[in-house]
Amino acid sequence: MNYMSKVQKIVILTSGGDAQGMNACIRSIARVAIASNIKVLGSVDGFNGLIDNNIINISYTDVSNIIQRGGTILGTARSSRFLEKTYREKAYKNIVKNHIDAIVIIGGDGSYKGVKIFNEEFKIPYIGIPGTIDNDIIGTDYTIGFDTALNNIISTIDKIKDTASSHHRIFLIEVMGNTSGNLAIKAALATGAEEVFIPETEEDYPRFELKIKAAMAHNKSSIVIVSEGDELGGAQALHQYLKSKKLHEKVRISILGHMQRGGAPSFRDREVGSLFGAKSIELLINNKFNLLLGLNNGHIVSYTFTDQITKHNQADQNYLDLINVLSVY
Ligand code: F6P
Repeated sequence: MNYMSKVQKIVILTSGGDAQGMNACIRSIARVAIASNIKVLGSVDGFNGLIDNNIINISYTDVSNIIQRGGTILGTARSSRFLEKTYREKAYKNIVKNHIDAIVIIGGDGSYKGVKIFNEEFKIPYIGIPGTIDNDIIGTDYTIGFDTALNNIISTIDKIKDTASSHHRIFLIEVMGNTSGNLAIKAALATGAEEVFIPETEEDYPRFELKIKAAMAHNKSSIVIVSEGDELGGAQALHQYLKSKKLHEKVRISILGHMQRGGAPSFRDREVGSLFGAKSIELLINNKFNLLLGLNNGHIVSYTFTDQITKHNQADQNYLDLINVLSVY
């Protein structure tokens, strides 16, 4: 036990979209905290649990057998109530009632914004851990869930390619990512996609049309990955566009949806989740508060919230050239 630490009791909350590896992270936070004589609570369904005093005790064994599970055992939500000060006041009263000294939050930029404003209003210390399949948080190279989501996308596209090649079809495959093309661009590289549409770039539709015509002329299959945040509006919109050019006959759409966010976390998400969890407690024990965790060139770093956080981490556009060179129509 560190007798100098001000933190005797923490609450863990997961907020925003669930991501694989959140449970590994919860387990690590809880067990490292308990081993350091810090009591651990969990807020059910993100900020809503704080508002409704739906706060549970977490023991060493409560987090047994969860490292391999996707989702979050605490439940999560995009709490619209927490955007209102009246509800944040309710949450604060419950924090006081439960003698909570600090919050460890796992989530994306929306969750970070919530915990930051709460800290400004009520001075409740926090540590933020990046958890979202989108990998779109500024300040970290990695967010928990990205690798597993990517592997889900890849294994599904590998299956779709069987049909695409058998029928000589063009598949427009929509992936998540919010306004970041990170999932799309990495998936395109790893599946040998012929084309990728991401929000960060303006698309050259005439060039794309030529490619589709060439594919059809040679009876070839193609995989086109479309990020949901792409400026045209996703795979359906791209399909409409091709229809308007009478180029849709051999085109099929596949919207991958929430299957991307589910399933057992990969090694990387279990590893990073566990390391971030342990680091959050190390910081709190040393009275280091109001920090966000990140990975920087393989090292765990902590940094303070800046307004930059509200901007999204953009896809690495260097991948585009390589994807183009590697693909053949
Ligand atoms: O932030 C994760 C994410 O899966 C995004 O990629 C997607 O835009 C969004 O969440 C979907 O949110 P919901 O599950 O609330 O519809």
